[in-house]
Amino acid sequence: MGIKSNIFLGIVVILMMASCQHTSNREHYITSGQAWLDTDSSLINAHGGGVLYYKGLYYWYGEYKGDSTYRLEQVDTWECWRADARGVSCYSSPDLSNWKFEGIVLKPVKEDHSSDLHPSQVMERPKVIYNEKTGKFVLWMHVDSPDYGKGMAGVAVADRPTGPFRYLGSLKPNGFDCRDQTLFKDTDGKAYHICSTDWNKSLMVSLLSDDYTKPSGQYKRILVGQKREAPAVFKRNGTYYLLTSGCTGWDPNEASYATADSLMGEWRIQGNPCKGPKADKTFDAQSTFVLKIEGQDRYIAMFDRWNKQDLIHSSYIWLPIDFDGGEMTIEWKDRWNLNLGNTK
Ligand code: GAL
Repeated sequence: MGIKSNIFLGIVVILMMASCQHTSNREHYITSGQAWLDTDSSLINAHGGGVLYYKGLYYWYGEYKGDSTYRLEQVDTWECWRADARGVSCYSSPDLSNWKFEGIVLKPVKEDHSSDLHPSQVMERPKVIYNEKTGKFVLWMHVDSPDYGKGMAGVAVADRPTGPFRYLGSLKPNGFDCRDQTLFKDTDGKAYHICSTDWNKSLMVSLLSDDYTKPSGQYKRILVGQKREAPAVFKRNGTYYLLTSGCTGWDPNEASYATADSLMGEWRIQGNPCKGPKADKTFDAQSTFVLKIEGQDRYIAMFDRWNKQDLIHSSYIWLPIDFDGGEMTIEWKDRWNLNLGNTK
């Protein structure tokens, strides 16, 4: 009995330890506004970003900012603080907490001053979606001249989520200017580009071609005259949500969200979803993306807290979205447990 029961006890202890280990692996905390480090202990440099889930990993793409920030003095109507655009970075994670640097997946073009990808130009708010039909990863971003006068979208494709992305060029969606932008892939496989247009006075939703690399020609201007930017779109229980900021450059302002039954339908303005200290200034931050936790009815609102005079040290604010009572709310939390094991 002695040996058998010892073996049995040993197995029980090992199983218990394994399950404890498993539980503690699920304890991942998000501490917004702090310096976030990657798995090599380097500062995460992925601003204005978005996240793609693909085959068990989350991929976070963002603006890889140069280390020094300068102000473009020739722009005198607003504070045009700039950092060199050093390409699009990518970090991968199985748990939204430990992020491995996968490198610069869309590289800057240092030799050609006239390229959209030259570090002196604007490359902002990159977003990536996967096209099942073509097997390609498609990246859209805002490309602009250093003074933001050009207002275009840049498109690139890759065979793998970690790139390298091949730049296809820039375009004005449906012939209109385009600045802050995002992508949304619907459950039926159709994909949409959403951007601020008409010098940020309105937003435009464009249905993309089947390969996601260009507008299909079907589009709608929404929130016309509302002056919104930093769009982030997601869908929950058949309702589409659009989170935006106002237009005050790098300075924070009040967020607002709108809902619709179809992306090209009527959008109903719902007001500011933020609650808690500095809710009227989006916790000193600006929206960039809403991340759906894979397989769960849980959503994370991603914001950038811009440090306009030191852009590379802008920090990330990630907060859970609450839908209790039918309203969407985003409450400030100093630190919260991602609790990936929790399915609600
Ligand atoms: C913000 C925009 C940012 C960046 C900045 C430049 O309004 O959301 O992505 O373009 O202006 O001032």
